Amino acid sequence: EKGNFRHFMQKEIYDQPTVVAQTLQSYVRRDDESVALPQIDFDLSSIKRVTIVACGTSYYAGLVAKYWFEHFARLPVDIDVASEFRYRDPVLEPGGLAIFISQSGETADTLAALRHCKANGQTIAVVVNVPTSSMAREADLLLPTHAGPEIGVASTKAFTCQLAVLAALAAHLAVKRGRMTRDEERKVVRNLIETPSALNAALAYDDAIAAMAHLIAPARDVLYLGRGQDYPLALEGALKLKEISYIHAEGYASGEMKHGPIALIDEHVPVIVIAPSGPLFEKTVSNMQEVRARGGKIVLISDAEGLAEAGEGCMATIEMPQVHPLIAPLVYAVPVQLLAYHVACVKGTDVDQPRNLAKSVTVE
Ligand code: F6R
Repeated sequence: EKGNFRHFMQKEIYDQPTVVAQTLQSYVRRDDESVALPQIDFDLSSIKRVTIVACGTSYYAGLVAKYWFEHFARLPVDIDVASEFRYRDPVLEPGGLAIFISQSGETADTLAALRHCKANGQTIAVVVNVPTSSMAREADLLLPTHAGPEIGVASTKAFTCQLAVLAALAAHLAVKRGRMTRDEERKVVRNLIETPSALNAALAYDDAIAAMAHLIAPARDVLYLGRGQDYPLALEGALKLKEISYIHAEGYASGEMKHGPIALIDEHVPVIVIAPSGPLFEKTVSNMQEVRARGGKIVLISDAEGLAEAGEGCMATIEMPQVHPLIAPLVYAVPVQLLAYHVACVKGTDVDQPRNLAKSVTVE
């Protein structure tokens, strides 16, 4: 089943162009370049507030989606990890849409949060990879990802498929709420359709990433930095690395580094910066200077423009294709996954079955 791949995780990273395309087939129409959700019998334009709940990597997909719902649809979004959600006694007003994101559809905390929202009159949308799961059965609006079975315990292809669905949902809500013109919708759809080829372009850096893994493998701590919609990717990068390589890693908002974690920086702490060029880039460049001034070793993941501006003086760079901000998180997920994967291979850990972790967490 692994074919020519060494591990399921590696295969699943490589599956992404195919399964993202497969997933998007149910969410975009190529003929008229429009977003098309699976049929629903209620009016999404009346939604007042969105609540997103999930765990782990699925939660990070939700964090990215928060940027999209707010930016494109101008919808206020609350987001929590499922294990915290009910205990803060969230205010759930009528007319709310609650979105649950889960690969397995069985995560106990997420399922309990779903039932809590249902009991409190929320419309329940579920982004889920297992169509027969509990969450899928209990949804009002089922938004399946078509990633196929994910065997590696560390989630990879489910994450990018979740992002694809959430991007389409954000665009759909934006259209319904009169916040997105037909022209913009076409542009978004064209960008989504291009995602699989951008993912292939990102995969082409696999060898380069494998070659730099030995620079990270000896580290005890690794810091990941990102800003805006790339901040959740920093969190995801750190999670992936700690899960499979057992190296302590933390994801931080780039601008938050100087409020604490900068104390950790020295020549032994690699800092992975996830920063496509764009309006936020300059600010991240200043954060990189702060790291460098303390002897920190930077791996910069950016596009050609970003690397031309800030690549000099980095320990290593990874070049991503120049992509629309809406698909950047999907594309930048690839180097983050590959880096964790290759570091784990250098360390010789059990990549597909990391210690202490289960594929589906069915206890609260
Ligand atoms: C990370 C990972 C976990 C899951 C989390 C939620 O690589 O796999 O953090 O993302 O346990 O699982 P699902 O998405 O099945 O609810």
